[in-house]
Amino acid sequence: MTQIALECRDVTVSFGALKAIDGFSHQFEAGRNYGLIGPNGAGKTTLLNVLAGRLFQNKGTVLCNGADISAMPAYKRARAGIGRSFQITKTYPEMTVAENLRIAAQIKHSPFLPFWVATRYDRQLQHDIDAMLELTGLVAYRDEIAGTMSYGLQRALELGVTLLPQPTILLLDEPLAGIGHHEIDNATRLIRSAAQGRTVLLIEHNMDAVMSLSDEIVVMSNGCKIACGVPQVIRADQTVRSVYLGEEAPA
Ligand SMILES: Nc1ncnc2c1ncn2[C@@H]1O[C@H](COP(=O)(O)OP(=O)(O)OP(=O)(O)O)[C@@H](O)[C@H]1O
Ligand SMILES: [Mg+2]
Repeated sequence: MTQIALECRDVTVSFGALKAIDGFSHQFEAGRNYGLIGPNGAGKTTLLNVLAGRLFQNKGTVLCNGADISAMPAYKRARAGIGRSFQITKTYPEMTVAENLRIAAQIKHSPFLPFWVATRYDRQLQHDIDAMLELTGLVAYRDEIAGTMSYGLQRALELGVTLLPQPTILLLDEPLAGIGHHEIDNATRLIRSAAQGRTVLLIEHNMDAVMSLSDEIVVMSNGCKIACGVPQVIRADQTVRSVYLGEEAPA
């Protein structure tokens, strides 16, 4: 039987009179990679905020692995395996790459450990950090001050920070935004390896990237789901093409 990692049932989020999300329902299967696309203001980031518990729906239900998490706060969802990155990079710019990763790695462990456990724990922590430096291609930058690096490297670091607690569900908000052309291929490769074996919701305006990274695309417009399907079908969908008129149409 197919396992559903995340499910939205009739989720609605209002900001005053504006319905940023308007009766959104979808089942996100475990281990599948989803692209979430739609024009500016469609409600994509708002949906990610609702799934991460940073914002609560006015109506509707959110389930994670079958359990109702509609009222669960963000930190508990993180512990339950939901990790997210932000549309704007949120690492500590004045700290080094390794320090940023260390903070992220420590979050999942208790700081109150007896010393004989602490030593072993510290070795494990160092191992996790080294593995993440390797995965993100940041080994040579471990002592670099995060804020002084290129935007592409900062995004790689942010992904490393998001991945360190080993989330099973990954919510990514425009991980390629602002990245220079020469860094896009590397960044796309990194997202592909991070996505492996995880349930992923990826918001991305870069159509080639999102189409190549996703098993299924969900299209939003005005807070509603207007289409979903495999990338080839979405590329050819007339409704999808028309909501993108004036923007980058899925080519
Ligand atoms: N905190 C808020 N208060 C009021 N309105 C908001 C708030 N957050 C989002 N909105 C509005 O909700 C709508 C959906 O915004 P959202 O950021 O989810 O869009 P998006 O699909 O992520 O767009 P983009 O592609 O530009 O990032 C927009 O009209 C936005 O102005
Ligand atoms: Mg957004």
